[in-house]
Amino acid sequence: MAFPITRMRRLRRTESLRALVRETSLEPGDLIYPLFLCPGKSLRREVPSMPGVFNLSVDEAVREAEEAGSLGVGGLLLFGLPESKDDQATGAWGDDGIVQQGLRALKQSSAAKKLVLMADVCLCEYMSHGHCGVVIEAHGGWDVDNDASLDLLARTAGSLARAGADVVAPSDMMDGRVAAIRRALDDEGCSQTPILSYASKFASAFYGPFREAADSAPQFGDRKTYQMDGANLREALREIELDIAEGADMILMKPAMPYLDVVRAARERFDLPMGAYQVSGEYSMLQAAFQKGWLDPARAMMESLVGIRRAGADFIVTYFAKEAAKLLG
Ligand code: PBG
Repeated sequence: MAFPITRMRRLRRTESLRALVRETSLEPGDLIYPLFLCPGKSLRREVPSMPGVFNLSVDEAVREAEEAGSLGVGGLLLFGLPESKDDQATGAWGDDGIVQQGLRALKQSSAAKKLVLMADVCLCEYMSHGHCGVVIEAHGGWDVDNDASLDLLARTAGSLARAGADVVAPSDMMDGRVAAIRRALDDEGCSQTPILSYASKFASAFYGPFREAADSAPQFGDRKTYQMDGANLREALREIELDIAEGADMILMKPAMPYLDVVRAARERFDLPMGAYQVSGEYSMLQAAFQKGWLDPARAMMESLVGIRRAGADFIVTYFAKEAAKLLG
């Protein structure tokens, strides 16, 4: 039945009609808010390339978490800036690590009842060289040793779970890390701690501002031998399949906006819960346009988030979590 019987504009006439036929929902509980924890007290240091994002001492992070919880945000994703770095990433797996301290404090706060506390599992923030695994000399140069990194990653996940993480989220992209982490969690009495695997993570320029926020830029080379090539969709599906086989409970895909086709393809192929990470560069480029007055902040933010949900993500990790929750609430 074509025009003039069919008129698509009929159902767009009023906001209530548009709301009735809206296909995709977005709720505060779908949003996960990343926090960057740093040593100290009463510290709130804004990240220059990420307006509105801060390095927070644990006491400030608790305040931030309580606010996010009262806005209905679904959870937090915790990253850490350690006191010092070394070549074994001691700060990642030590029980007195900054994220472990943060988790213990958050567990005591009222925020813990409302928010899922997720802890990122990676070594780059804690390694003096800034790579996500153990660096060794190899064929006259260097390499990130996959298997030697697994032990440290598993130890990190165990320590974070014991400190109170509700979910551990490995983002390192070493092969076999999900299985290694599952084994360590089960051995340490954390068989109920789920793994959210960053199964499909591309080597992306859009992580630039994060590396300023987390002080985690590699001191030499890049991450292309462990993170995926941005041109590959089938490879992403294989990565996801392997992580599921190793025991991932949920998967995370990142970046989001330049890879929405990957989110859609994964949604159609796999049935476990899936999230997408609207990464730092996606946030920063929108913020830059807002500052210039080139985009309407509220509308552009919401459109970017609804697009990710429409592509098939159940939840979204986003630095806009609080702002979006305010508008939705
Ligand atoms: C750690 C990690 C990174 C991000 C999440 N976990 C940085 C990287 O891989 O270089 C990026 C998140 C963002 O850009 O917001 N490996």
